[in-house]
Amino acid sequence: MHMNDLLTCIEQAAALVRERVAAAGMELPHTALVLGSGLGYLADELEDAVRIPYEDIPHFPVSTVASHAGFLAAGRLNGVPLFVFSGRSHYYEGYDFTTVTFYVRVLQALDVKTLILTNAAGGVNTDFAVGDLMLITDHIKLCADSPARGPADERLGARFFDMTHTYTPRLQEIARRAAAELSVPLREGVYFYMGGPQFETPAEIRMIRLLGGDAVGMSTVPEAIVAAQSGMELLGISCITNMAAGIVAGTEVSDDEVVVAAAKMSRTFGELMKAIVAKAAKDV
Ligand code: HPA
Repeated sequence: MHMNDLLTCIEQAAALVRERVAAAGMELPHTALVLGSGLGYLADELEDAVRIPYEDIPHFPVSTVASHAGFLAAGRLNGVPLFVFSGRSHYYEGYDFTTVTFYVRVLQALDVKTLILTNAAGGVNTDFAVGDLMLITDHIKLCADSPARGPADERLGARFFDMTHTYTPRLQEIARRAAAELSVPLREGVYFYMGGPQFETPAEIRMIRLLGGDAVGMSTVPEAIVAAQSGMELLGISCITNMAAGIVAGTEVSDDEVVVAAAKMSRTFGELMKAIVAKAAKDV
């Protein structure tokens, strides 16, 4: 996509969202929460919510994954104005990184300052167990493609940009405090991006361990890169839904196991996210 076209698309999508939120008498939230597998119910807990199906938003990709819904909601969670994305699209669905991260560009245009990403991930660190929640402290992406690849335009951010504090230390600290107050154990680690849709081979997982990955998944990193380029604050939390391939001898990885584990953790994960959103809004 040509850069001017991309900017036009972003503006058209942002205009539709602005219009729908205003028509519902809502103010524009400055925080956005992206719900991964299992967390969908949080969208139902929004007060005064307006729902915008992705189909209604110009240029928005529609997720084709069964466990992902497809709408943006704007409302209040415990009084905090919030955008909630129920479902997201992924590279493995055939979308390129520009398309997968389009919504983050739209958030930038809407002046959203804080992005909170959740996902399901495979556990690579052998100290982890299914059902653990992991605060993402950093990530690794080995594939060369990037959502920031293409003609540079200052309206989207710098050509070259720093990734040192992509996962905002302030938000990490808030997540740790929220977890401690709720007595929810919170692991920490490095999220390793793999394109999927196939789960990894045991040899790939051994490589990921060697390289410093603690969890592996197929989302989040493209968005994190665009958040960094946009100057947004970012928090990422993974639900460890399965141990990655080859970690537990005699087992295989299945999508059923991912969906079941995500559903099992959804209440705890959701309560933690609510506490984090409340703290992040208060602490600015
Ligand atoms: N690998 C990649 N992505 C995943 C996994 C996994 O084991 N579990 C959930 N998402």
